[in-house]
Amino acid sequence: MADVRIILVGFGTVGKGFLNVVIEKKSFLKEIYGLNLHINAVFKSDGGFISNTNTGLDIQSLLSIKDYKEHPQWVKDVKAYDKIPEMEADIVVELTPTNIGDGEPGLGHIRQALKSGKDVVTANKGPLVVAFQELITLAEENKRFLHYEGAVGGAIPVFSLARENLKSSKIISIEGILNGTTNFILSRMVSEKIPFEIALKEAQELGYAERDPSYDIDGIDAAGKLLILTNTILRRPEERFVKFDEIKIESIRNITQEAVELAEENNLVIKHVASAKEGKLEVGPKLLPKTSPLAVSSTLNSITFKSDLAGEITIIGEGAGGRETASAVLTDIITIFKKRIKTKNNN
Ligand SMILES: NC(=O)c1ccc[n+]([C@@H]2O[C@H](COP(=O)([O-])OP(=O)(O)OC[C@H]3O[C@@H](n4cnc5c(N)ncnc54)[C@H](OP(=O)(O)O)[C@@H]3O)[C@@H](O)[C@H]2O)c1
Repeated sequence: MADVRIILVGFGTVGKGFLNVVIEKKSFLKEIYGLNLHINAVFKSDGGFISNTNTGLDIQSLLSIKDYKEHPQWVKDVKAYDKIPEMEADIVVELTPTNIGDGEPGLGHIRQALKSGKDVVTANKGPLVVAFQELITLAEENKRFLHYEGAVGGAIPVFSLARENLKSSKIISIEGILNGTTNFILSRMVSEKIPFEIALKEAQELGYAERDPSYDIDGIDAAGKLLILTNTILRRPEERFVKFDEIKIESIRNITQEAVELAEENNLVIKHVASAKEGKLEVGPKLLPKTSPLAVSSTLNSITFKSDLAGEITIIGEGAGGRETASAVLTDIITIFKKRIKTKNNN
């Protein structure tokens, strides 16, 4: 049985989802992988829960306590940024809010983790969009792993599919529905014959869209994901890394009910498609045949890889959700654990 010590930064939807999954999968992880996870610290924006034993925090008590400030292990005002280098741990799981402007606070946390010899798992796009090359280099220089399966497509194993299962093929292009909120809005405009504004309001009421929905509907979120996909999967080692401002982005704000209905009469559907093809990176509304594998409905995401040997492969699933994204985080932890065992055995 091997112990893996974790520092979790972010105690929100995905952070809590992850802790719940760690409880739920405790015996599964032991039986199948011989893996025993200890959560040594959990940070929020105003402090953290810090374990003073080798066995980690009692996660159940963190999840069930009414006022977290009353928890015996709560330390007020302590910062993840300062604590990450000091603490002993194997993996930092970074799940703070995405910020595509300067990547913070996640970028600082990831830098601190890699520099102090910890592997990193994240679902946070911001640091990767802002500093992809720097972080990949930092991980390599420090011989650490940086995994981010949950950052694109939530539960959908996009990077594992490309990296592991399509190893023999060269992936030539990527196309996808990468934002569940815009897809929900466009789907409702078709199914309920309602205008954009009403469908957006509905998405906000259901908690799919933020009060300021521009990040989703103006294509910023999808463009960030496209950048991460392109730099990870399409870029050859000798090629440069692409930057956010190279992506042509078009919003779905101006899509009218008439346009949606006209498309439907012609067996087509309007979707917000992100594509990386022949050196061009674009996010924008596109007409697709209703039968296209990309034409998924509601909040689903879908991604098509076109490759030289395997042809076109499309993968569909839930692109968001605490539990769903936590599944990707846990998969990354298992992957790193297995890689570390392999490295140890080879030395
Ligand atoms: N939600 C999803 O379905 C989903 C899907 C895929 C990817 N993601 C990505 O996963 C990440 C987490 O998403 P989420 O929905 O869980 O966000 P969330 O619910 O807003 O939670 C964010 C957490 O980060 C904490 N935080 C903020 N600043 C911090 C700092 N400086 N130090 C320590 N903790 C800090 C917050 O602390 P407080 O509790 O003090 O506010 C909160 O606990 C985001 O980057 C998001 O884009 C989310």
